[in-house]
Amino acid sequence: MNYNKKTVKDVEVAGKKVLLRCDFNVPQDKETGAITSDKRIVAALPTIQYLLDQGAAVIACSHLGKPKNGPDPKLSLAPVAKRLGELLGKEVIMAADVVGEDAKAKAAALKPGEILLLENTRFEKGETKNDPELAKAMAAMAEVYVSDAFGAVHRAHASTAGVADYLPAVSGFLIQKELDFLGGAIANPKRPLVAILGGAKVSSKIGVINNLLEIADTIIIGGGMSYTFSAAQGGKVGGSLLEADWMDYSKEMIAKAAEKGVKFLLPVDTVCGDSFSPDAKSQLVKAGQIPDGWEGLDIGPETVKLYCDAVADAGTVIWNGPMGVFEFPAFAKGTEAMAEALSKTSAITVIGGGDSAAAVEQLGYADKMSHISTGGGASLEFLEGKELPGVACLLDA
Ligand code: 3PG
Repeated sequence: MNYNKKTVKDVEVAGKKVLLRCDFNVPQDKETGAITSDKRIVAALPTIQYLLDQGAAVIACSHLGKPKNGPDPKLSLAPVAKRLGELLGKEVIMAADVVGEDAKAKAAALKPGEILLLENTRFEKGETKNDPELAKAMAAMAEVYVSDAFGAVHRAHASTAGVADYLPAVSGFLIQKELDFLGGAIANPKRPLVAILGGAKVSSKIGVINNLLEIADTIIIGGGMSYTFSAAQGGKVGGSLLEADWMDYSKEMIAKAAEKGVKFLLPVDTVCGDSFSPDAKSQLVKAGQIPDGWEGLDIGPETVKLYCDAVADAGTVIWNGPMGVFEFPAFAKGTEAMAEALSKTSAITVIGGGDSAAAVEQLGYADKMSHISTGGGASLEFLEGKELPGVACLLDA
């Protein structure tokens, strides 16, 4: 896949209407609807501010949640418009629909330097079906399409990909940064390339392991999925997370790594608990020797040392998935030690979105990393080497 795409700086936007796809799919309080993290709104600001400063009229759009049957007031983007307005220090005009009369009229009247936010794109049934009629209607409001919704580039939807059939399509600064770091780490990494893979399930990381086996010099395995690898090698895993159906696959991956000369590191010791709870009793055991009634919840200190040594002289480190149950302080040490090791290496450090990003942020190492991806599912599909519709649709540089 070509990661070298035209950006907002490669097109003339002054005096033009620009349709800007953002990822404003923000977390909200279930009871009150209040936005609980405005990180995704903040991440969109550089592109929005640039467009406004250039004298573009910005028609922003995004999805929010997964509305099933058309408009749902609980999933209105109105709270996002309010927060965006506060952050920009200017009015964000809110449309009552996506391509209806209100949106069309407000888009037509929009002046350079003004910003309009369309309603939740998923209020239109055609959005997730990538309906060309919807894409055409959205495109008809603007002259240029800018995508900055990295979190949604793995979706082939009307607003993330379809509109690019009808307008010149370029990336915003956020997508550009994601492509530089994630794309750079995959396509042209400074070596050695070390991939740290954790998280609960092997089954959710198959695509990533397969792809990284072709690219990485070292693969480090941690988190819940390591117990499936351990069991596959005849280890005792007690009550740990185990995907028995994936044991054969795990064995194959270990063999494939050996064949390819990729170092494949598995835990050598385990901190286990007598229950899945923050105040579980804990004990340290050798990997593959977890007693019945106990479950692995973190990597142990010998494993930490082995893994930290592996990243110390890396050129690039990609991290996807925590090493243990970092949400429980007693079982966060492995994840924290890796975050600390990454903060000290001179390697380019790229953190996948979702849990890995949350872990690094919660543990206070976010500003020490080269790049933390803003996309959960999108960064995973990126690491799987899949073609991302929201990137593929942009003009090549
Ligand atoms: C995300 O939150 O990961 C993106 O906004 C994509 O959302 P989706 O999974 O609802 O498509």
